[in-house]
Amino acid sequence: MPPAPEKRSRSQQAPGQSRCLKHVPKASAPPPPAPPSRAASRSALGTAVSAPIPRADRPARCPPQTPLPAGIAPGPAPAPARGPQRRESRPVPPGPGTDPRGRVLAAGVAGRAPVPRGSGTCRRSLGRGPAGPARPRRARASRRFRAPVPRRRIDGAAADMWRPPRRLPRPLRRAAATGPGRPLLISTPIFYANGPPHIGHLYSALLADALLRHRRLRAAGPARLCTGTDEHGLKIQQAAAAAGTSPAELCERVSGLFRQALTQAGVAYTDFTRTSEPRHQRAVRHFWGALRDGGMLYKGAYEGWYCTPEESFLPESQLAERTDAQGRPCKVSLETGHEVHWTKEENYMFRLSAFRDPLQNWLRDNPRAIFPDPFYQCVLRWLDEDLPDLSVSRERSRLQWGIPVPSDPTQTIYVWVDALVNYLSVVGYPESHGTWWPGVHHVVGKDILKFHALYWPALLLAAGLEPPGRILVHSHWTVRGQKMSKSLGNVVDPSVCVGQYGVDGFRYFLLRQGVPERDCDYYDEKVVKLVNSELADALGGLLNRTTAPSINPSNTYPRFSESCFPKVLDSREAKGTGRACAEDYELVAAVTSLPAQVDSYFESFQIYKALECIAQCVRQTNGFFQRHRPWKLDRRDAVEQLWLDTILHITLECLRVYGTLLQPVVPHIADKLLSRLAVGPGERDLSGLIFLARYDGKPCPFEGRQLGPDTGILFHRLGKLETMKKRKQAQVPDKPLL
Ligand code: MSP
Repeated sequence: MPPAPEKRSRSQQAPGQSRCLKHVPKASAPPPPAPPSRAASRSALGTAVSAPIPRADRPARCPPQTPLPAGIAPGPAPAPARGPQRRESRPVPPGPGTDPRGRVLAAGVAGRAPVPRGSGTCRRSLGRGPAGPARPRRARASRRFRAPVPRRRIDGAAADMWRPPRRLPRPLRRAAATGPGRPLLISTPIFYANGPPHIGHLYSALLADALLRHRRLRAAGPARLCTGTDEHGLKIQQAAAAAGTSPAELCERVSGLFRQALTQAGVAYTDFTRTSEPRHQRAVRHFWGALRDGGMLYKGAYEGWYCTPEESFLPESQLAERTDAQGRPCKVSLETGHEVHWTKEENYMFRLSAFRDPLQNWLRDNPRAIFPDPFYQCVLRWLDEDLPDLSVSRERSRLQWGIPVPSDPTQTIYVWVDALVNYLSVVGYPESHGTWWPGVHHVVGKDILKFHALYWPALLLAAGLEPPGRILVHSHWTVRGQKMSKSLGNVVDPSVCVGQYGVDGFRYFLLRQGVPERDCDYYDEKVVKLVNSELADALGGLLNRTTAPSINPSNTYPRFSESCFPKVLDSREAKGTGRACAEDYELVAAVTSLPAQVDSYFESFQIYKALECIAQCVRQTNGFFQRHRPWKLDRRDAVEQLWLDTILHITLECLRVYGTLLQPVVPHIADKLLSRLAVGPGERDLSGLIFLARYDGKPCPFEGRQLGPDTGILFHRLGKLETMKKRKQAQVPDKPLL
């Protein structure tokens, strides 16, 4: 299995590994509160206790190459000799959410006052807590997805009395929020602004783009596609220092490269967020305030091994001993090989541990929330494990390039919290996100699944918002069997590929060959072979043959004849009736069911399968054409002419269906094809796509229509790689190195 590329959090798991968790440094003192018994939870919250997910329903193991984000050890880690530790809390500078002595205030039960931390209440002796003035206003939440409200003050000993609701909403509200006709926000991850784009980034974006285009063609309701750049954090700060520039200057430059690469590859994004923008920063500060006011944050001393490229603390179980370039012993991340550094600091912790049940309930109620299924199963398994609290800030003295914690200028908000909030800031959080939230589909790589499927939904719930509608996960691209990395010098630049294979050629390759469930390998010869055979020869050749003046001199969409191709209920009846044979009826059946099949593959995030089905039908259509040799038919014979017209009619109908279905993936080729067939702009949507109406005795609006102008070859065959590369090198000036 190829190793995962460099990431803030990358992880892969050996096939068959079944235990997937331990991703956050484990607090060692004081010990985490014991998980509440069901009965205790019930009495504390007065809500029904949801049934645990039966073990038997869980798969025994993760899928092959199942993606496991960094920091996830195969099972409970042994207690580290010197692992990350959370120590006792300390006072925080006064400000909102703290009392005048700087103690964190936690929201109490409804109608009760926030209570200063550290007032020494014993967990067991707490009754319902002291009555007091109204608690501070919390973020607005839907009734069922309400933020878990602390029922007790939050401080060292009492913290474990606090429990979120045991039960999250059934998917009723969810269905209404994301159903047909409802606005849909599709997102790509926002890309780190520390280096130029590569094909892995483009793949994330293309998947999202194809989903957006597909939805638009189905006229399924308003949709947006958001993307952007993730500009804060230590790794950007360090990359800028290494490049001898300021972080702001570096981000400006790299952000521009991403915009350019996405535009060049035809990614039709509607929104591009930069996390350094004021509107985003405002949203992050508001989000932080919602967490703090809801009592979801507390301050504690924290120490552990920090991995900057992964922007994560790593437990001992994720580390290995190595020697550095100078031969000195050092520790590195097992997964990425990056060196880690012992870091000891005071920061804010998020009560992630309290969200295990709500997350499990959310997933149980929404079995399609994470796609493809192996990733869903994997997240469920993570949730079987311990879910420690999460450090959500860094000391400002170490990290200046980030958003300061509101009312505590000594701390910077953790870059992942900052970055995730882009999905809200883009839709106007905190004022106007309601139209678009939670109708959002996040497209993410497997390396960042943990952040999107555990941290993000928990943070949202904690801030009084609903979890995202769906998380669509994809695997990684390797290059000739190796992970892509700057040090190996094998990073594939998408703009070079687009230049070499054409926008649509390269889009087609990535979406046709990329299988979300498993890693895929990239090499140039593969692209050439695939696009030549499927786009140039099979599809382009078919169009060429059907529209050639020698075979279609009138340049029209000819008539279909029922006598040549009579309707049959069973393709085996075909024998002896008309001119068509059983395989022709199979072709008609295959193309008739194709739009629904493609639709369902897009719906299940298997775009590669949709393309595979289309390619298969194109092959069948070529077989049909070849089988009947229309060029041999004698046009002077009226009966032969009828059959020739019918063959052309059927082939053009097939091409019209393929062109329509291919629009989300190869928009330019599809446009060229449909224009050649004289399919008007209003006739290209997927909802009204009917194949071969005449076979069912219905009128066909295209029959007899003059074809559109011949604009040349649909897709030019790619030549020899070396020639292409040389030609390209002569044309493209070198991009400045970062
Ligand atoms: N900045 C974070 C995401 C924050 S989202 C709130 C990040 N950025 S990234 O630039 O490293 O990665 C962006 C996307 O590119 C992720 O979906 C990631 O999985 C994807 N890819 C990065 N390398 C990849 C491959 N080699 N192959 C396929 N996609 C991979 O993570």
